[in-house]
Amino acid sequence: MKPKILIVDDDEAIRTQMKWALSEHYEVHFAEDRKAAGEGFETNSPAVTLLDLGLPPRPNECDEGLAALSDILAIDNTAKVIIISGQSEKQNAIEAVGAGAYDFLCKPVEMEELRLLLRRCIHVTDLEKEYHKLQQSQRADVFEDMLGTSPQMQAVFAFIRKVAATNAPVLLLGESGTGKEMAAAAIHRRSTRKEGPFVAINCNAIPENLLESELFGHEKGAFTGAHVQRKGLLETASGGTLFLDEIGELPPAIQVKLLRFLQEHRLQRVGGRQEIQVDTRLVAATNADLKELINNGKFREDLYFRLAVVTIRLLPLRERGEDVGFLAREFLQRYAGQNGQAKMVFAPDALRAMNRYSWPGNVRELQNRVKRGVIMASGSRVSAKDLELDDEKGLAASSATTLKQAREHVEREMVEQALKKNSGKITSAAADLGISRPTLYELMEKLGISKDRANRNNNLSEIHPPNAIL
Ligand SMILES: Nc1ncnc2c1ncn2[C@@H]1O[C@H](COP(=O)(O)OP(=O)(O)OP(=O)(O)O)[C@@H](O)[C@H]1O
Ligand SMILES: [Mg+2]
Repeated sequence: MKPKILIVDDDEAIRTQMKWALSEHYEVHFAEDRKAAGEGFETNSPAVTLLDLGLPPRPNECDEGLAALSDILAIDNTAKVIIISGQSEKQNAIEAVGAGAYDFLCKPVEMEELRLLLRRCIHVTDLEKEYHKLQQSQRADVFEDMLGTSPQMQAVFAFIRKVAATNAPVLLLGESGTGKEMAAAAIHRRSTRKEGPFVAINCNAIPENLLESELFGHEKGAFTGAHVQRKGLLETASGGTLFLDEIGELPPAIQVKLLRFLQEHRLQRVGGRQEIQVDTRLVAATNADLKELINNGKFREDLYFRLAVVTIRLLPLRERGEDVGFLAREFLQRYAGQNGQAKMVFAPDALRAMNRYSWPGNVRELQNRVKRGVIMASGSRVSAKDLELDDEKGLAASSATTLKQAREHVEREMVEQALKKNSGKITSAAADLGISRPTLYELMEKLGISKDRANRNNNLSEIHPPNAIL
């Protein structure tokens, strides 16, 4: 594909000359005045624009040309514009370069000189694009589509980078909507298996009697209705990754089979006699308390230890501090763009309310509220009300229905904040809250806040899995 060039000049003879000289190597477009220049730039996104400063209606002055330059730079501030000027306008041409033009040439234009300048200009553009791509890939707050500036998420990104390269199974823990599936996909994309398939299955969504054949496949005639032999998802994902969501829901019989697969990397299809070697990496996720399921005899401990070789805990959004504001702003720009709106901002009451709210639905809820806010906002400002949040109490306007719920919410917010501020030190936190140490302990127990958890924000090493084998 030839690079595009836009030539803005009202002189027909010059346009013809340029076309003749350049069209072999470039796709050439023309504009004769300021208005057409802006439109031509927007429609064609040329790699380079050649701009004559003397444009109608005042071809002997420079102001129309300079205005066209600023129009183009307003559309794209990285646009490459080369000024073509008369000898007497040299001073203006230099000013134009000061205002953001790439370079200038004086008339009469030497075609060889112009070709050279164009080649250099396009080379610079390519370098800039490459640099931008590199910068994006090194943006610390984006990791394989996952966003997060908080130390907690940065630690998760660093951990995924490390474990992705291994073949070890990974167990992802976290409340609903914290990004477990996103993390599973990131692990796959960062691994040497990235060219292989990424297959996801929700163990809770498939009836128990079908789950076994779904996972392990079946031979023809294995059961009524098994008319043909079928590969299971473990086999389909061979060379890649199988993501087992809601692993806590796995029925006991299948737990045994899965354990065997993890030990031997072999499986038997339902109704099959042969063992088949399969090279699939398992990533599992749950928002259930597996330890409790183990204590209740619902989940095999030996399977847990096999699956949890590497464990990554995705913290609830309310424990990620600065991420709430950061993610909200990123989503706001994303959804505003999708909604055909330019830049949107949050009103101060919206930011306050978001920081006070406890986000039970985590990132998914944040996405949904921001999506709603973009639609509900009357201008370019999204208020707490547009998000259906209450600024004063930090409650979802509709979520606290009883006084007890509201009280618990406020208590939780205050206790968590005090603990965070005092790095988990109970004595100082209690002093800040104006209560005694035993009362604070009681409150923490009632609200299910552990000292450990409160401290975690300040102590990164604690969110690294204790049993990680890298
Ligand atoms: N760090 C993040 N950056 C950007 N988007 C995120 C992030 N975490 C989660 N999301 C988005 O939030 C939504 C929920 O994420 P995901 O499905 O990965 O969560 P989950 O933990 O698997 O939830 P569930 O337990 O309900 O299945 C998705 O739309 C996902 O794109
Ligand atoms: Mg999920």
